[in-house]
Amino acid sequence: MQKYLINNLEDYEGQEVTLMGWASNKRESKGLVFVILRDGSGWCQCVVSLELVGEALFEEARKVTLESSLQITGKVLKDERQMGGFELQASSIKLIGESNDYPIAKKEHGVDFLMDKRHLWLRSQRQWAIMRIRNKIIFAIHEFFQKEGFVQMDAPLFTGNACEGTSNLFETDFYGDPAYLSQSGQLYGEAMAFSMGKIYTFGPTFRAEKSKTRRHLSEFWMIEPEMAFYDIFENMDLIENFLRSVVSSVLAGCEKELAIIGRDTQILKNIVKPFPRLTYDEAVRIIKGEQDVNGKNAITSLEDELSSVKTRIILVQTEITEREEKIKTPGMKKGEIGFNQAQIDKLKQELGDLEENERNIPQWLNSARNFTYGNDLGGSDETVITRLFDVPIMVYNWPHEVKAFYLKRDPDNSKFARGVDVLAPEGYGEIVGGGERETDEKLLIEKINEHQLPMEAFEWYLDLRRYGTVPHAGFGLGLERLVTWVCKLPHVRESIPFPRMYGRLLP
Ligand code: 4AD
Ligand code: MG
Repeated sequence: MQKYLINNLEDYEGQEVTLMGWASNKRESKGLVFVILRDGSGWCQCVVSLELVGEALFEEARKVTLESSLQITGKVLKDERQMGGFELQASSIKLIGESNDYPIAKKEHGVDFLMDKRHLWLRSQRQWAIMRIRNKIIFAIHEFFQKEGFVQMDAPLFTGNACEGTSNLFETDFYGDPAYLSQSGQLYGEAMAFSMGKIYTFGPTFRAEKSKTRRHLSEFWMIEPEMAFYDIFENMDLIENFLRSVVSSVLAGCEKELAIIGRDTQILKNIVKPFPRLTYDEAVRIIKGEQDVNGKNAITSLEDELSSVKTRIILVQTEITEREEKIKTPGMKKGEIGFNQAQIDKLKQELGDLEENERNIPQWLNSARNFTYGNDLGGSDETVITRLFDVPIMVYNWPHEVKAFYLKRDPDNSKFARGVDVLAPEGYGEIVGGGERETDEKLLIEKINEHQLPMEAFEWYLDLRRYGTVPHAGFGLGLERLVTWVCKLPHVRESIPFPRMYGRLLP
């Protein structure tokens, strides 16, 4: 049987086709049933008319419930008003699988409820769009590296060493010995880069972090390129070209999806502009309000925002009360009540966002004002600095104490390590961490001891410095962090089909 897809209907205008999918909506009016069918490729209104299909089939159509699966045959008609531009004039309809009391109704559900129903929530239009954008990003990543001559490698997931610190390891039992789920494929990537020149890994990584933030998953997908004969500056050039290429692919190939989620694409289009490169020292001055960005000061702009948030909260609360009073007026028309109720719902949504800002801004201000030079940037600090930018920024030259053991000490100033973090704008923060690698065996051994890592697990890694070491560099991109920023999601949990994080192992 020929398979027709909703997103190809334009090729079949005026012809009869059979669609298979699920009912995402249904409404009835006199002698007509309208079913919105979704088949994974898109959504299409199917019109079942009593006159055309007869009594028996019409009754079938009337019994269609939310998310029951269906086969509908009919004629493809152009209709500009419909999403996709076409509708189906049904000649027959057949139920494939029943769906009774579908738990996700039209009304707003809380995120926790929707996460419990993640296996069904994935069918909704917004989640569909996000997962399609994720798919495009994955494809664009492979495309970029393959075109640039990188070889994809798979690093092991059971490892004997802690590459990114010992505090967030998932320990498992490996035939009686402890093993850890990989935090990063980087060390193996370095070995492979000395075989291939340029490699990238693309695989799951694990971090046991007992904190619930909007940025952290326990299981996430990381892309880690590693290049022989690259220094930190060539690494930064690569990161910039790479992110530009991937985001441009999304803009070119996911117009429909970005529209569905309501993403303002202007910020994404800024990806063609150069990414500002700041040293850690400059970043700290900006966060503390000692240095402005394009005339904007981190501290005073947050203070101003807080006071306008407070003013707006009072206005919104007043309007909600007024409208609530109004709809109680006796004799008010149904239409007017509905209109006011819709306004109230919208205002309440805005109020929720405003109140969240009213809670968050003082915390951001507090952590920015009290930032101690020499510390790593925390989530709040990243938010504070990236709200001032409309492109990703790169922060490099970090105090060596706060970064991983393998980063190269800056030859010009031994206080610093040659690490670089890329922070996404609009308050999102770190999406990439990377840097140039230490090649001095003695310094590496010192660092391994300093971090209290078991030397025997790193003997093989030290061999890479003993047998033909070369300058080399690389980075790690967190796939979900990128998807979250590109889609402007409030939380990283919506960027992956089935998130694993503190407090969530199901579904
Ligand atoms: O900064 P990280 O820890 O760097 C590394 O793992 C290096 N070995 C990378 C390299 O140089 N090859 O992690 C890299 C990126 C972060 O910038 C972030 O995007 C993501 O991985 N990431 C997480 N994403 C979601 N949940 C978490 N718990 C994450 N931890 C890191
Ligand atoms: Mg990092």
